[in-house]
Amino acid sequence: MCGIVGMIGNRPVARLLVESLKRLEYRGYDSAGVATLVDGALHRRRAAGKLFALETALEAKPLAGDIGIGHTRWATHGPPTVENAHPHVAGKVSVVHNGIIENHQEIRTELVALEIHPESQTDTEIVALLLNKLLDDGATPEEAMRQVMARVTGAFAFVVMMEDCPSTLFAARRASPLAIGYGEGEMFVGSDALALAPLTRRISYLDDGDWAIISADGARVFDHHGAEVERAVTLSAVSGALIGKGNYRHFMEKEMHEHPEAAGYTLFHYNHPSNGGLAMPEMPFDPATLPKLTIVAAGTSSFSGMIAKYWFESLARLPVEVDIASEFRYRDTVLPEGGAAMFISQSGESLDTLMALRHAREQDQHILAIVNVPESTMAREADVVLPTLAGPEIGVASTKAFTGQLVALACLALDWAEKRGTVTPERSAGILKALEHLPVQMAEVLEREHDLVPICHDLSHARDVLYLGRGTSFPIALEGALKLKEISYIHAEGYAAGEMKHGPIALIEDGVPVVIVAPSDQWFEKAISNVTEAMARGGRVVLLSDSDGIARMGNDATWAFEMPDCDPFVAPILYALPVQLISYHTALEKGTDVDQPRNLAKSVTVE
Ligand code: M6R
Repeated sequence: MCGIVGMIGNRPVARLLVESLKRLEYRGYDSAGVATLVDGALHRRRAAGKLFALETALEAKPLAGDIGIGHTRWATHGPPTVENAHPHVAGKVSVVHNGIIENHQEIRTELVALEIHPESQTDTEIVALLLNKLLDDGATPEEAMRQVMARVTGAFAFVVMMEDCPSTLFAARRASPLAIGYGEGEMFVGSDALALAPLTRRISYLDDGDWAIISADGARVFDHHGAEVERAVTLSAVSGALIGKGNYRHFMEKEMHEHPEAAGYTLFHYNHPSNGGLAMPEMPFDPATLPKLTIVAAGTSSFSGMIAKYWFESLARLPVEVDIASEFRYRDTVLPEGGAAMFISQSGESLDTLMALRHAREQDQHILAIVNVPESTMAREADVVLPTLAGPEIGVASTKAFTGQLVALACLALDWAEKRGTVTPERSAGILKALEHLPVQMAEVLEREHDLVPICHDLSHARDVLYLGRGTSFPIALEGALKLKEISYIHAEGYAAGEMKHGPIALIEDGVPVVIVAPSDQWFEKAISNVTEAMARGGRVVLLSDSDGIARMGNDATWAFEMPDCDPFVAPILYALPVQLISYHTALEKGTDVDQPRNLAKSVTVE
C-alpha cells in the first residue's frame, strides 16, 4: 500500500525522506517521489519503479530544503507512471496520499468545468487542485484544509506542503493510519512508526477524521468537528535496529527463520512460567457463558481464524463462525446479543478488517483483536487486545505473524475451554506442553529446509499445483496455495481433501503436483485415500507428514518431507512452516521478487 513520509526541521531532508521510504518498501509500491520547499518554491523528483530509480533521479538533480514530503505509490487510479507518481503538485500545493478519495470523479468534473485540468489520472491530484483553488479564492491554509476534509469522502491519509507556508506541513487521516513523530527541533509524519523508527520513537497517532498542523516545534491536532485536541505521545516499541535482513537473502527467509522466536515469545507472553498457568487478558464478558464467537480476518490471517474454529469448537465447545472481512462488512450478519467478535490481523490496519470491526461494534459485539502491531488502529479500537510477539514483519508474504497468531489463538481456546469446563486438566497440560515444545520442533524443520529444494525445483515447472488437507490441515493447504500464488506466480488451489472428488479432481492429469498436508491425526486415513485417488490419475504427490504417516503411506508418494512427531492439536502451527518454505524455494527457482511480489501490498489499506 502507499507509504507516506514528511519532515520539517533544520537539516536537508531529501536523503532522510528516501531512507524513510525504504522502511516503507515492505508495504508494496510501484513508483516513488519526494518534494521539498527551497526558498518558498516547490521542487520534486519522481520515478516509476523501485526506489533506486528515485535515488538515481536525485543524484542527477539533488534536492535541497529542510522541509519535504515523500511517497511510495501502489497504483490504484492510473498506471504506475511518473505522471501518476506522488507528490502531486497543483500551483502552490503539493500532496502525498494513501487510500482512496471516493468522490474524486465528482470533484474532478467540477474542477474541469472551472477550466482546472488535472495532469494525472490519480484521485490524489484532485486534493491538490482543490486545495490550490481554495487558496486562490482567498481561503487561509487552515480554512482550505478544513474545507477539503469536509468535502472529500473515502478512506485516506495525506500530507500537504504549501509554498505560502514554508515552515508548516499539514496532515490528515480518515481510516488510513498516520503517525506524527516528535524530534528535537524537528518533526516527522509517516504511515507508521517503522518509517520514523531511526528518527524518533516519540509517536502520536492521529484519530479518524483528525487533521494536523505540523511545525518544527510541534503539532496542533484538530478532530473531525474542528476542535483542537490532544493526542497522546507514546514511546513506540518499534526499533530501527530490528529492521534489516541480516545474513538472509530476503526478509521472507529471515522471517521464516524467526518462527521459533515468534511462537516462543507469544507463548511466553500468555503462559509465563511464573504465572503457573495461562494468563490471558481480562475479558469484558464471561467466556463460560459466551453464546458465540465470530472471527473475521483477511488472507493468511483468515486461515488462522479457520484453524481456531476447530480449536474453539472441539476444545471449548463454543459455536464459532469465521468470515473473510471483505464479505462480513457488507453482509446482513445476525450476531447474538452479548456475542464476541474477534479480528485477526498482522498489521492491524487492513481496511476490510478494520471496517468489519466497526460493523461488529455497531452491533454491540465485544471486540477482540489479535494484532502484531501493538500501536495499530485495530489495537486501539478493540475492547481487548491479544498481541502476537512476532516482531516487525516486512516481507509481503505473511509468515511468522501467522504462527504467532495461531499460538495466541491456541492459548485463548485453551483458556476458555478451562473456564467452560470442557477440557480435562491432563489434556490442558498436554496441549501446553506441546505448545512449549513447538519452537524446538520449528527449528528442526528449518534445519532440514534444504530437503525441500529438489521438490521445489520440480514444482517450479508446474502450471497448476493442488494443496489438500483435512481438518486443521485444510487451512494449511489454503495457506500453502496462497503463498505459492503470491510469490512464485504459479496457479495453486487449496482444497479440503474430501472435496476433491466433488470437482477439483478433474484438474489432475499426468504430472500435476498435489501437496498433501497430512500429520498422523484423526483425519489421516481419509486424507491418504484422497492421495491414492490423485495418484491413480497421474498426480505427483508431495506428502508432508511425520515418520508414522510416511511409513503408513509406503513408498507411494513422489516426494515426502518428514515432520517431527507432534500433538495433532499443534500440528497446523508446525505444518505452516513447510508450506511457506515450499513457496519460498519455488519462488527462488523462478527468480521472482520474493519480498515485494508484483501487484501486492503488505498492508491493504484500500478496498
Ligand atoms: O495485516 P493483515 O493480517 O490484516 O493482512 C491480511 C492479508 O492482507 C495478508 O495476510 C495477505 O494475504 C498476505 N500477503 C498473505 O501472505
